[in-house]
Amino acid sequence: MDKFKRTLITTALPYANGPIHIGHLAGVYVPADIYARYLRLKNEDVLLIGGSDEHGVPITLKAKNEGITPQDVVDKFHGIIKKSFEDFGISFDVYSRTSAKIHHETASEFFKKLYDDGKFIEKTSEQYYDEANNQFLADRYITGTCPKCGFEKAYGDQCESCGTSLSPTELINPTSMISGNQPILKETKHWYLPLNEYEPWLKEWILEGHKEWKPNVYGQVKSWIDGGLHPRAVTRDLNWGVPVPVEGAEGKVLYVWFDAPIGYISATKELTADWEKYWKDPETRMLHFIGKDNIVFHCIIFPTMLKAEGSYNLPENVPANEFLNLENDKISTSRNWAVWLHEYLEDFPGKEDVLKYVLTANAPETKDNDFTWKDFQTRNNNELVAILGNFVNRALVLTQKYYNGEVPEIGKLTESDKNTLAEISKIKGEVEKSLDSFRIREALKNAMDLARLGNKYLADEEPWKVVKTDKKRVKTIMNISLQITANLTICLEPFLPFSMNKLRGFLNLEKLDWDKLGNTELLAAGHKTNKPTLLFEKIEDSVIEAQLKKLQDTKKANEIAEAVTNPAKENIEFDDFGKIDIRVGIVLEAEKVPKTKKLLKLIVDTGIDKRTIISGVAEFYKPEDLVGKQVSVLVNLAPKKLRGIESQGMILFAEDADGTLRLVAPEVDVKPGSEIK
Ligand code: MF3
Ligand code: ZN
Repeated sequence: MDKFKRTLITTALPYANGPIHIGHLAGVYVPADIYARYLRLKNEDVLLIGGSDEHGVPITLKAKNEGITPQDVVDKFHGIIKKSFEDFGISFDVYSRTSAKIHHETASEFFKKLYDDGKFIEKTSEQYYDEANNQFLADRYITGTCPKCGFEKAYGDQCESCGTSLSPTELINPTSMISGNQPILKETKHWYLPLNEYEPWLKEWILEGHKEWKPNVYGQVKSWIDGGLHPRAVTRDLNWGVPVPVEGAEGKVLYVWFDAPIGYISATKELTADWEKYWKDPETRMLHFIGKDNIVFHCIIFPTMLKAEGSYNLPENVPANEFLNLENDKISTSRNWAVWLHEYLEDFPGKEDVLKYVLTANAPETKDNDFTWKDFQTRNNNELVAILGNFVNRALVLTQKYYNGEVPEIGKLTESDKNTLAEISKIKGEVEKSLDSFRIREALKNAMDLARLGNKYLADEEPWKVVKTDKKRVKTIMNISLQITANLTICLEPFLPFSMNKLRGFLNLEKLDWDKLGNTELLAAGHKTNKPTLLFEKIEDSVIEAQLKKLQDTKKANEIAEAVTNPAKENIEFDDFGKIDIRVGIVLEAEKVPKTKKLLKLIVDTGIDKRTIISGVAEFYKPEDLVGKQVSVLVNLAPKKLRGIESQGMILFAEDADGTLRLVAPEVDVKPGSEIK
């Protein structure tokens, strides 16, 4: 911190198109909150900034689907999200939103400055246009087949199946999500940020200057830069967002990823007139807490915007996390596969800290991690209850019992006492070392080690036995146990703020600064402590089973919904059917198409000929499983190139609700070439 006088912590602005779940909390808000609380305990000048990201196409799509306005959508979810954060005690200094007037002004001015300074490239290009609705189609309004992996529901900006970033014109068979029609190409003008011009600077600033960034962050940035940077459009044809403040730009708004990070600036402005100190003074250290899908925006694009503007600081670090899965499955808002924060609090009132603890102990810091209800129960019962709760409870209850709550005097020290006291004074350095390098999960473990130390000390010293023979000795043991307890209120405060507040109440102790940590005379002899209650309680199996059942019900509901959303198609005439030529074939050879996840290249004997067919089933069949199998082949499908290979026909599969594909084949072997009718 020497170089810096203060810290500005930003947290990714969640999209206001749904409530927030444990994945958001684990990846961004809990670590940011812990870090901010830690700095505040050190009396540092720190701001924790948050807000809702209220623009972008998904919000307009949701509004359209529900027949309400985008503003209705964001009003609803901004409210829910903000309340969840408050309930969980995420200690934002400000939680703003990007539909706020101050944000529109700030983002608009920011764009105008870059525009006036000639930082953009103006370019007219052809983009997809929906003639039925007279509107240009934003990337997310177009779906089609991914040219890389063959996934049929890829979006215009990205294939969610193979993760490739796309541009809409790369999609095969593009379809407008508004009308369902094939869109046409039409000319439109947009403004681009020429990232390529900033490449040498980015290389020097990050690749040379920030080798200390987490390997997952540094690696992703490096591969982006090495892949070559291109101008990025920062405007869109859309009517929801910050209008482009330039003449001739009617019907255009700033791209959501251009305005959203400026939201950090707007929120700071909303908070304090002194906002420039936090954004422009080089003695301020800026940190972005985000999830891994946001890395390029926070490490490349936003810094380039700030650099182009010229008067702002750049981030000092971007401690991005990986993803959290739920019970071995990707968390998904649309599939309702999540633990929603507002629901958690209904089911586990008063247990905010328990969830935060589990999410931190199992934080996806270096790799994706899995949240399971079993692990939640185990960590609660075996760590919070059995280690931390048990220790402080014994220390406090015995103090009540032996001394009516008064802290006893410390006497002559044994070797064991001395060792224990020495351990206490080491804890500060350890927790700090971890926190200062954003290893938050390790920091929690370091802090919990102090509770482990206390537990061990009590178990070794057995004051409940010694009390029968040596009352004086017990005083020392209890004094030391209480000093450990008091130290816990400091080192666990950033992680478990609700519980430590409660514990301070039991100890009758005020909130202590971080620099008191390690001090073994926090409680003076004679200090009166209060009667404690339990800090944590055991979670029973039945409670966990209920949560698992809830998830199982979600799975079932998804399957049913899938069936409902997939009703029979319109009737056709027999002649239409007659046009389709399906034959029994036999797979002769099969191999994976290199660099794809889903594609297999098959050589099939159709009875008519031998031909190559590309099939998107590699996730369900190994090549060797298919060789020799009878299959149904649509033989008169027009050939199509996939990954540079011409696919001559299609093999038929049955797809079940979760997307699993299974071969459709005759029940006994029939001659290749036999017609299926
Ligand atoms: N809304 C984005 C997401 O959830 C994050 C925006 S972060 C900001 O992925 F920088 F743009 F604000
Ligand atoms: Zn793909």
